[in-house]
Amino acid sequence: MAEKIIRTIGVLTSGGDAPGMNAAIRAVVRTALGKGVKVRGIRRGYQGLLNEEIIDLTARDVSDTIQRGGTILQTARCEEMRTEEGQQKAAAICKKYGIDGLVVIGGDGSFAGAQKLANLGINTIGLPGTIDLDIACTEYTIGFDTAVNTAMEAIDKVRDTSTSHERCSIIEVMGRDAGYLALWCGIANGAERILMPEEHDYNEDAIVADIQECRKRGKKNYIIINAEGVGDSINMAKRIEEATGMETRATILGHMQRGGSPTCKDRVYASVMGAMAVDLLMEGKSNRVVGYREGRYVDFDIDEALGMNKGIPDYQYEIAKELAL
Ligand code: ADP
Ligand code: F6P
Repeated sequence: MAEKIIRTIGVLTSGGDAPGMNAAIRAVVRTALGKGVKVRGIRRGYQGLLNEEIIDLTARDVSDTIQRGGTILQTARCEEMRTEEGQQKAAAICKKYGIDGLVVIGGDGSFAGAQKLANLGINTIGLPGTIDLDIACTEYTIGFDTAVNTAMEAIDKVRDTSTSHERCSIIEVMGRDAGYLALWCGIANGAERILMPEEHDYNEDAIVADIQECRKRGKKNYIIINAEGVGDSINMAKRIEEATGMETRATILGHMQRGGSPTCKDRVYASVMGAMAVDLLMEGKSNRVVGYREGRYVDFDIDEALGMNKGIPDYQYEIAKELAL
């Protein structure tokens, strides 16, 4: 591919925030500056781009940020960006500010925006930023490792009180339409049941029967990890308590899963991905998304990445069930 000269790189975070986004921003800023390229930070995602909330970023602006959760650039969801007029306006604003390369940190929706901008002549690179792990082209997303560890620690705490009271606990974790957080917590916390939107065999009668069977076998509690894509935890708790006679409580972990200082893994992977985004732009690449597969950092065409599918690994799910004996 012919080299395009990149003089200014823009960076924005979009969609739900995720721990490690700051490490990615920092890596974009410092890698670009190190190569003599100017960096502009765009606040509040695509909404901020359309509102021209654009600031210059220096190496010092990203000091003391690698350990912080959230995103120093703020994030937003933006309906206008889904429209053709919004996309054209966004591309024109990039051009007005001399942004010839744009790094978009977010999920599939954010990549769709980056794809539209690439088609309008702005060189774009997407970095996978979401606690949900629901991006098909990559085995790793920025923020998942921190979120799953945060959820795991919270579930350990619920388990203590659940054991003391010999209760059933239904703990709802985030993940939107995906069950990865639920699956990982289910294994890491030794849950008796994992409910995920991807599994269609969810059967409450079978759960009730299993709870009764587990009590006979001397289990002191019964932990159900429920993905938010299944939801209904509070009503489910009432129904299960009524059917089993076992006291049942629902805990919805909520947004605490999205906050907190990123783990080492999220800091390191996000840093590498941020640097890689700049390198790809400098090589003249556009409409690419960075991922991590089979032990390597890789990049894909955004069109191809958005067309990929990803499911819950059956073997892991089977193991989770076997270990709940
Ligand atoms: P995520 O990036 O985590 O998947 P969303 O689906 O909420 O989160 O998308 C984030 C933002 O990306 C949206 O608010 C919107 O501004 C933009 N976006 C989503 N889908 C599209 C699309 N099809 N075309 C253009 N922009 C989009
Ligand atoms: O995509 C990240 C995520 O936290 C999902 O797990 C959840 O469904 C959603 O965002 C919640 O979004 P909001 O913060 O807008 O309520």
